[in-house]
Amino acid sequence: MPEFHLVEGAPATPWVVGALHHLEQATSLELFGEDRTMSVESLTHNLSTETSALKGLLLALTGPIPADCEVGRFGLPLAPTEPAEVLGTVSFTLPLRENRHLIEDIYIQVAGPNRRQRIGSAMLDSLREIAAAFERDTLLMWTEHDFAAGSQLPQVSPTTGSGSLPVDAAASFALAHQFRLAQVERQSRLHLPIDPNLLAEFSAAAEAAATGYRLVSWHGPTPQEYLAGVAAANWAISADAPTGGIDWEPENWDERRVRDLDAMLDRSGQAVSTIALVADSGEVAGLTTIFVENGRLDRPYQFNTVVLAAHRGHRLGWWLKAVNLARLEVHYPQAKHIDTWNANENEHMLAINTALGYRIWAISGGWQLKLAAAG
Ligand SMILES: CC(C)(COP(=O)(O)OP(=O)(O)OC[C@H]1O[C@@H](n2cnc3c(N)ncnc32)[C@H](O)[C@@H]1OP(=O)(O)O)[C@@H](O)C(=O)NCCC(=O)NCCS
Repeated sequence: MPEFHLVEGAPATPWVVGALHHLEQATSLELFGEDRTMSVESLTHNLSTETSALKGLLLALTGPIPADCEVGRFGLPLAPTEPAEVLGTVSFTLPLRENRHLIEDIYIQVAGPNRRQRIGSAMLDSLREIAAAFERDTLLMWTEHDFAAGSQLPQVSPTTGSGSLPVDAAASFALAHQFRLAQVERQSRLHLPIDPNLLAEFSAAAEAAATGYRLVSWHGPTPQEYLAGVAAANWAISADAPTGGIDWEPENWDERRVRDLDAMLDRSGQAVSTIALVADSGEVAGLTTIFVENGRLDRPYQFNTVVLAAHRGHRLGWWLKAVNLARLEVHYPQAKHIDTWNANENEHMLAINTALGYRIWAISGGWQLKLAAAG
């Protein structure tokens, strides 16, 4: 077993984000045969934006802990200023406005040659200590799996019973540490351009059903007049999207939080958004956003889509998505495909996506560990 120690990485130490990105690229190529990573620039902006959550990054470095090193806010030595060999990383967030029982978005990676040497386990042990120090009692970790390759392996189902995951290295690791699979998400891909006739038909049929509503679209940050409505839509997403067996509280959204998110996205790329408004009152009834990263105009991502509860049943979801995709194709003709993530049990959203031509190609697992129960 190699001698290693864990350090805290901060985005202000430039080599650290580069090393995280390098390992993410290797993991992505290994799992999916393609580089699906966000750029170093985007990772840096994400790690530096802490308005709603603390962002943590630990790195496993070779060798013993150096003497007299400075200790960071999670109680571990800070990463050295000079680059070092990285054996593995774990990134995570500590929500500040709600879900203060969670350490969430945990993603552990260990470089290929260093696996099965308890490096991943050591990172998890550190997260348990951080959870105790920050009074969090639940760990929420994510795994990703190739859909086709994984179908040959034994499967594990979530507590909700919807969908399953292959018991591969990542799932074995989670199970070995007593995590329970709380939710399965589908990652689906739509190849572009979509048949323009299909998109036009889709949009016209939805528009005909959505009487009393109108759509407004924009690029970049939310216009001032829609900030409150977009905050309400984001709250609805966090309250209404199926969360499987995850112990999850709705997010506490206000105009400031919308502006903060917009500012972060704007530094890394551009958001393309469409909202549905009630025609006479101007009240926001639905929202959908696609994110196009700087330098990667070929592979946009579908962000959240929601229709608020009082406005469901008018095909607004279909209309919002068709119109926003049409705008994407006009403004970003370089886009080759768009990826989206949906809870396996989210039948309505999956029906829209399937009709548009999205097809499943990978799956993710949300794994939950209740620390009090685990002891
Ligand atoms: C999943 C991953 C992080 C595990 O890291 P690791 O440092 O190799 O894990 P550890 O050595 O601490 O393993 C702890 C236990 O998990 C289980 N485990 C880990 N990898 C396994 C594998 N390939 N097959 C079966 N069991 C495995 C075993 O029970 C292991 O204990 P053992 O070696 O004494 O039998 C690593 O394989 C990886 O980086 N995979 C790619 C990225 C990824 O999928 N991340 C999601 C992580 S949850």
